[in-house]
Amino acid sequence: MEKLKFIHLTDTHMNAPHAQNHFSKLKLADKVSRVFAHIHANAISPAFVVITGDLSHEGDVQDYEYIRTIVDEGSARLGVPVYVVLGNHDHRAPFREGFLQEEPSEQPYYYSHTIQGVRLIGLNSQIKGHHHGEIDAEQLAWLEETLRTPAENGTIVALHHPLLTINGMPSEHLLANREQLGTVLEGTDVIGVVAGHVHTNNVGTYKGICSVAATGTAFAGEAAEDNQFKMVDFCGYNVISVFEEGITVQSIVLPGMQEEFFRFSMEAAAAHNE
Ligand SMILES: [Fe+2]
Ligand SMILES: [Fe+2]
Repeated sequence: MEKLKFIHLTDTHMNAPHAQNHFSKLKLADKVSRVFAHIHANAISPAFVVITGDLSHEGDVQDYEYIRTIVDEGSARLGVPVYVVLGNHDHRAPFREGFLQEEPSEQPYYYSHTIQGVRLIGLNSQIKGHHHGEIDAEQLAWLEETLRTPAENGTIVALHHPLLTINGMPSEHLLANREQLGTVLEGTDVIGVVAGHVHTNNVGTYKGICSVAATGTAFAGEAAEDNQFKMVDFCGYNVISVFEEGITVQSIVLPGMQEEFFRFSMEAAAAHNE
């Protein structure tokens, strides 16, 4: 029997309308609003939505204030909470000030919420000034303690950097200490790990736990000739259903032209990651 379903969004890369950067002309916040409208129109009725990072594209306080309005509109439209985690293109202090309306600080943003017996744990894998990600010792200790008590209907862990490698990408995109995180998760009530960062749908198991990376709402990555990677117009989301025995993942793609935005060489990407 299905316990609940939830929506997994990722890599929204939003900016305030006045922002001027590589992505702002693509109006990526509009895509997120389209996604919320699509979920509503299709009567999916999720219990919650989680966005796994790169909420902004190098956002400042104004960007995060704007992103909060988009998220709040979506939450009101669906009538359910929208939870977020931070990605490598996010920044903790302006996020805390603009999105959470708290004092700005570099404290990692992580939490546990239980919705209809399913526990959602959000982790902060983003590290200031770095493209790669890891879960710090403070969060690992908190996670280990939290998972000592199982949730009624299992636990979902959300973070930005994925646990599974994808074809054609250098390993720097993986969570740097996935082995450590996997050791904490193994043998607990965690039934799924949801992530983003790679802008590609990728589902498998890590330490026996279903591990998902979603394409996201902003654009999709595809391998191209000459060891290049191209980013194409794309917008979609995943519907994740939680059952007694685990989870299922359904990918929904909104209509689009899949026009190529830009491409980069994998060698340059690897050098950038160092
Ligand atoms: Fe991203
Ligand atoms: Fe990312």
